[in-house]
Amino acid sequence: MSIISPQIIEDIKARNDIEHVVSSYITLKRAGSNYNGSCPFHSERTPSFTVFPSTQSFYCFGCGAGGDAITFVMRMENLDYITAVRTLAERSGVTIPESFSSNTNENDVSRQRVLEMNKEAARFFRNALFDTKYGKEAMDYLVNKRKLSTSVIKHFGLGFAPNSFGALHDHLKKLGYSDNEMVTAFLCGKGKNNTAYDYFRNRIMFPIIDVSGNVVAFGGRVMDNSEPKYLNTSDTPAFKKSKNLFALNYAKNHCENTMILCEGYMDVISLHAAGFENAVATLGTAITSEQARIFSRYTKKVVISYDSDQAGQRAADKAFKLLQEVGVDVKILKMEGAKDPDEYIKKFGAAKFNAIIDSSKTRFEFEMDKIISKYNINNVDEKVKASHELCKVIASFSSEIERELYSRKMSTFFDIPLSSIQKDVASIIRKRIREDKSRQQSELYRITSGIGDRVNPESASNIRANKIEEAIIGLMLLKVELLKECCDRLTQENFVTPFCKKVFESISSVYKEFGKFDIGYIQDEFTIEQISRITKMLAERERLSVNDKTTLDNLINSLTSESVKKEDSDSFDDILDAIKNKKRN
Ligand code: UTP
Ligand code: MN
Repeated sequence: MSIISPQIIEDIKARNDIEHVVSSYITLKRAGSNYNGSCPFHSERTPSFTVFPSTQSFYCFGCGAGGDAITFVMRMENLDYITAVRTLAERSGVTIPESFSSNTNENDVSRQRVLEMNKEAARFFRNALFDTKYGKEAMDYLVNKRKLSTSVIKHFGLGFAPNSFGALHDHLKKLGYSDNEMVTAFLCGKGKNNTAYDYFRNRIMFPIIDVSGNVVAFGGRVMDNSEPKYLNTSDTPAFKKSKNLFALNYAKNHCENTMILCEGYMDVISLHAAGFENAVATLGTAITSEQARIFSRYTKKVVISYDSDQAGQRAADKAFKLLQEVGVDVKILKMEGAKDPDEYIKKFGAAKFNAIIDSSKTRFEFEMDKIISKYNINNVDEKVKASHELCKVIASFSSEIERELYSRKMSTFFDIPLSSIQKDVASIIRKRIREDKSRQQSELYRITSGIGDRVNPESASNIRANKIEEAIIGLMLLKVELLKECCDRLTQENFVTPFCKKVFESISSVYKEFGKFDIGYIQDEFTIEQISRITKMLAERERLSVNDKTTLDNLINSLTSESVKKEDSDSFDDILDAIKNKKRN
């Protein structure tokens, strides 16, 4: 049972309609009594993400993510259950008692503890940098070599990790943090005999600060040419690399129209110092679809400002694709005579940088330039290859208007009839849709057939029984009268797979105590994947029109008849049959 009372969960959910919660993050379109949208949890061309207002749930038929408003916020904001409940409570003015903590296990380190520790660590690193004894070399490096002013250094909270295995560790220990906590926060590593040692040593420290002002992670740079150049915090209870951006805490106030996406921390710092306070960077990895979605929340247009080397230009391809998918206007900077924005600003100044931002290129121009410089289009064979590549680029734009305009440009430049280009583009699009569909189908097949099923590993050897169990649970979640019926007539012994047994037990014990049920009451007993599976059972029923008592009677009869439990011997044939049927469809 949840450690937060059902009454509070109910209050919070009543004030946070799932439609409203979801549509504050993504655009929803009405479809009958439900809503559809592009799934924020995986990349897709055709929207398979569905919100069901009647049961206050969501489910993505493409990737299998599902749950209620609380789960949605957990996934979107990367929060644990209690924090997501708190977030929704705060947004809607429900008060929940302070005493609820996310910790059920002593070894679990809460997000809050990690954040407090990070704040102390940032303070420690900053003091070390400004300490004339420890920090002299580091300060020299920043001021003389990197030309940063003291005010910029302070603005970004830069620091220095002393060249010691225990300086930070001992400091945090004095403040009452345990080795386990320091290791979880990624501030310490764990040595051979389980001793914790400082992870960042002799490095310039860049704190990563989220939009609420929390220090969520660090990047640490060496001051010479040694490797690795940067060390970064890995994922912790307070941080997910793929969901944060460096300097977003500042950029968020300067980015209504445009944001600048860079590769490096140093690029961002230089740009901010030169007045481009809308610059951000990813955190040591290529841009992810989650980060692309962050951009779409804050701005209309992104200028990719990656390093001018080959690696940077290749990374730009991915950034273009992901940013375009979330619907922001994307441009790319053409930088000549400098390897990165930091160097460019230092060499040519802010005004010149502003000018190249103004003349930044669209993806089409960028790709066309690339293709033209790769092929000699006076040679027929090469021209064919070049045309085919460019048609593929055109086909990847989702707007018909864009495709039309780019096809015309191409027609003029390559001197090829517009109609031929349009035909080629159309056939590429058809092929891609076919490929998408078959990929989605095989993925769904994998999920529904139980092959490689981590949530319910027993489903593969109990295909029929599992289908019945899932249908019954789906009906229990759909209608309270069916829920009552099931609780009266079934016990957990009737269920075959351990997962469904546990789900039934949770639901029925809540019902027996409170006379009602909501998935929010049991969320902290299950992982986010398990909640998705439970929601899938509900979503499958939502799709069907026959959800009455007769349906339930038949299902209960099937589940309670002995035969359903003896299917192990023929279950493999079932799997084969299912595969054959799939192929035929
Ligand atoms: P860069 O090598 O371009 O670094 O890597 P930079 O930030 O521009 O630094 P300077 O100008 O050389 O001092 C770009 C980004 O890639 C990540 C860091 O986030 C860095 O800011 N990176 C790079 C790592 O995570 N680890 C590395 O070893 C190198
Ligand atoms: Mn760089």
